[in-house]
Parts: sequence; structure tokens; C-alpha cells
Amino acid sequence: MSATQAIPFFNYPALFERDEENLMAILRDVLRRGAFILQKDLAEFEAMLCDYLGVKYVIGVADGTNALILGLKALGVGPADEVIVPSHTYIASAASIHLVGAVPVLAEIGADHMLDPQSVEPLVGERTVAIMAVQLNGRTCDMDALGAIADRHGLAIVEDAAQALGSRFKGRRAGTFGAFGTFSFYPAKLLGCFGDGGAVVTNDDEIARNVALLRDHGRNEDGRVVAWGTNSRLDNIQAAVLNYKFRRYDADIARRREIAAMYDERLSGINDLTLPPRPDTTGDHFDVYQNYEVEAGRREDLLSHLADHRIGTLIQWNGTPIHGMK
Ligand SMILES: Cc1ncc(COP(=O)(O)O)c(C=O)c1O
Repeated sequence: MSATQAIPFFNYPALFERDEENLMAILRDVLRRGAFILQKDLAEFEAMLCDYLGVKYVIGVADGTNALILGLKALGVGPADEVIVPSHTYIASAASIHLVGAVPVLAEIGADHMLDPQSVEPLVGERTVAIMAVQLNGRTCDMDALGAIADRHGLAIVEDAAQALGSRFKGRRAGTFGAFGTFSFYPAKLLGCFGDGGAVVTNDDEIARNVALLRDHGRNEDGRVVAWGTNSRLDNIQAAVLNYKFRRYDADIARRREIAAMYDERLSGINDLTLPPRPDTTGDHFDVYQNYEVEAGRREDLLSHLADHRIGTLIQWNGTPIHGMK
């Protein structure tokens, strides 16, 4: 690769061109069938994800944020409740707790940038109802330690696995540890659609039923309104795209892990740079590297150095930090 070749952080057109003919055929097929809302491609996607994750239910919803909101509502989290969540996460994790009327209680992260179980336990109070494990950057938290805390205090575990489809802890996939898990299929995600998309996954019959009602105006399988609900369905056309892209998902993950190993080999030992854990093949964590998140002692210098070489970078979240939100 020549030193002058630009490496943008996102390259959606390149991803599209790679598969243009097949993707256009899929879109044409869905459009010709007029299959837009709650159609067979969505049912197929949900069934496929159930199989991949080894869970009983997958419910496709509008996006990863709504997945969290609907999951929390379905679990019965609401006003006066507190949910413990890491402060280092995308705003949507904490926002979902706020939007169901509960209070996000912020915990610290450990060296691997994941929710630190040691910081969680002192935060448990009378109003705590759940711990939200955020499976950040394609890595899964230490679910044994978090599960032990939840058991000791009678709390639910819920998982924001928006960034971690395919990631595993001790062989078990992210999203399958708690009362429910959520995923995002935003275009930049490892499995991304052509817009917004998300899913709630669970083994709990009641949560699954509640989320299915909530996402479709409270309508049951017969189309009858039986509860309050909203409109938060995963579009059938997005599901068709995801069904296609999923075919090479494992290969995409393998490639990410190869690249992460190269970064690790070539960047470790540089002063002022702390790298994420290297791809592990024998230990507890199987990471999928949704993001390769580094800590840089001289961040601005590093950003401009990389920009000079036309290498894209991203500060994952900017603006008011979660602990600064009113
Ligand atoms: C950790 C995390 N949680 C939640 C979300 C929200 O997902 P969406 O953008 O699909 O609403 C994202 C998406 O970027 C995320 O990274």
C-alpha cells in the first residue's frame, strides 16, 4: 500500500461496490414484492440471529437505542428505579435509562475500557434494579463477576451489545447473558444495514412478548391492539440486506482480528500509546474489534499526525460527557 493512499475511517461506497450487483438484486426483489413491514425477510433475519446467538427470541426493532428503551420497558424498569451503567459508553446506553424515567448511575471502567465490576458493587442501593453491561468495542465484560454481584443483590443484568455481535466471554456470545441483550445495525456497525436497525434478544417469554407488542403499537399476532405500544419495527428491506451481509459475518470478524493482531504487533511499545487487549485465542475473551480504541498521551498530536498521512480517526463521542448531562 502506498504511503499516500488515503484511509478514511468509514468507506460506505467501497462496501457497497464490493457487493453492488447482489445488493441491488435484493433491493429490487423486496421492492417488487412490496414487502415493507413485518414481512418474511424480517422473520428470516430474526430466526437466523436466534440460531447464531443460541437464544429463544430475537425481535427486530428500529435501532439500537429503541432496542434498549423497549427492553427496559418490557422488563418493567421505570420511575424511581436506578440502573448502573459505565460512564464510558455511547450516550444511548444512559439515555435509554433516562428515557424510561429511571436514573443512570455511572460506574467506572477498567484497563480494558469495560465496566469494572469492583466499581459496581459500592453503587448498589435500595433503588437499584439492574446493571447494564455495555459490551464496548466488540469485547464482552467479565460477565461472571457482574453476574455474581447481580445475584448477591437480586438485580437484573441487561446488555447493551450494540458494538459486540459475535463477541464471546468464556465461549458464550455477548447479548445472551442477561434478561435481554440489544444490538444495533447502524451502517458503521460490523453488521450494518442501509440506515438504522436494531434488535432485542432474550430467552424470557414475557420480555419477548412485551417487546413484540411495544414495537408494533401494542398489536398481538392477530393484529389486535392489546397494550400501549409505539412504532419501532426493523424495516423488512433492512432485514433483507442484513440477511445477505450476515453470510460473510464470520469472515469479516476473522479479518478484523487479523488486522488487530497486526496493529498490536507494530504499535506496541510506542510511548504514550495504550492499545486494547490483543486478539486472544485461548483465554476468556473473544473480541470482534468493532472499534480499535487506543489511549494516547498526546491525543491532538496523534490526530494531526495521522491526518497529515490521510489516515482517518474518530473520537467515539464528543460534547457533553454523560456525567455532565442534566
Ligand atoms: C454502545 C452503543 N449503545 C447504543 C447504541 C445505539 O444504537 P443506534 O445508533 O442503532 O440507536 C450504539 C450505537 O452507536 C452504541 O455504540
